[in-house]
Amino acid sequence: MTVADTHTIAGATADAIALDNTYAAHNYSPLPVVASHARGAWITDVEGRRYLDCLAAYSAVNFGHHNDEIVATAHRQLDAVTLVSRAFHSDRLGPFCAALAGLCGKDMVLPMNSGAEAVESGLKVARKWGADVKGVPAGMANIIVADNNFHGRTISIVSFSSDTTARGGFGPFTPGFRSVPFGDVDAVAAAIDENTVAVLIEPIQGEAGIIVPPDDYLPRLRQVCTQRNVLLIADEIQSGLARIGHTFACDHWGVVPDVYLLGKALGGGVVPLSAVVADRDILGVLHPGEHGSTFGGNPLAAAIGSTVVGILRRGEFQSRSAELGLHLHARLRSLIGRGVLAVRGMGLWAGVDIDPRLGTGKQLSLALAERGVLVKDTHGSTLRFAPPLVITSDEIDWAVEQFACVLAAAG
Ligand SMILES: Cc1ncc(COP(=O)(O)O)c(C=O)c1O
Repeated sequence: MTVADTHTIAGATADAIALDNTYAAHNYSPLPVVASHARGAWITDVEGRRYLDCLAAYSAVNFGHHNDEIVATAHRQLDAVTLVSRAFHSDRLGPFCAALAGLCGKDMVLPMNSGAEAVESGLKVARKWGADVKGVPAGMANIIVADNNFHGRTISIVSFSSDTTARGGFGPFTPGFRSVPFGDVDAVAAAIDENTVAVLIEPIQGEAGIIVPPDDYLPRLRQVCTQRNVLLIADEIQSGLARIGHTFACDHWGVVPDVYLLGKALGGGVVPLSAVVADRDILGVLHPGEHGSTFGGNPLAAAIGSTVVGILRRGEFQSRSAELGLHLHARLRSLIGRGVLAVRGMGLWAGVDIDPRLGTGKQLSLALAERGVLVKDTHGSTLRFAPPLVITSDEIDWAVEQFACVLAAAG
């Protein structure tokens, strides 16, 4: 019998899940944990059980659940103004864009909502830049992406996904993308032609299993893009905003992309807030009516985004992630040979390959949830640990002890 088979669900948990299953589309397969409160790195379920959150909503809760500073901003802004659309100005948008542009060392910000929307917007900006600045003939632009990428779920984005589940039944797809192996700069260089407008990459591939590229990948990619007049677009939606111990994952290699795509933690775990950030010669290609979003840059999100940028400016979460990340990785690596095959990642972001004989990632996640630790599987037998960056060293120790117990029980 597998651990999944032994999991029993009853009471308020079962009722909540039944309601979800009846009325919410089945586009996810969540663990049977029903959250009702969360503070810091801890989630409490509807029956009062507490769990150490080691997922942080896929890195959207980097600064902890109910971060006091962010929640205080949200409360203040709720009482002021929350939405005017971009038909009018608000007194929150300019300060937010100025602060975020400054953090990124760029000129301008295009505010959106979800991560996928930022990616779509980045692709549109790259194509428009190709048409208006590079002189690529209409309809001829191509963009190079990496195999096993994950950039979201819209039609255009799944058009260049390698994941058959993400694509199955959703065609016809958007043309104009070329996929090459992640980490292979020569393959990128070979794929570039006169109509290539951009190379879009995750600096560290998240959903693929926290795949860190070779050290020369990003620096060489930067060189190739500059030499060939192609935009380097870094999707830092999951890897950025302190997750790996730097403000951006690109910082680890000293690389500055032409375009940053940001999301998730930018909204402080409170609102959806994403952005495309670039210099004026790139984002300046957009003119009134060519792109937009009713909620993009709304005053509530902009106020929260400004607070998030202020937090990132202080650097405390980048330092925490770097220091505690070393601890997390050392503790996880100590389980190699005891059910763990490999540990990858940086900062408080770890992909852990489990011996498939012990069960699927989903089964092990269920067993860990029963011991009070929430993680998420990705691709078969890989588990990802990405706790809120407020987690403590003792809490990391406790989570890894629970993990060791689960591995021992499954072995
Ligand atoms: C690298 C990356 N890009 C884009 C997205 C899409 O973000 P969202 O789910 O907010 O649309 C994700 C989500 O996991 C991501 O990891």
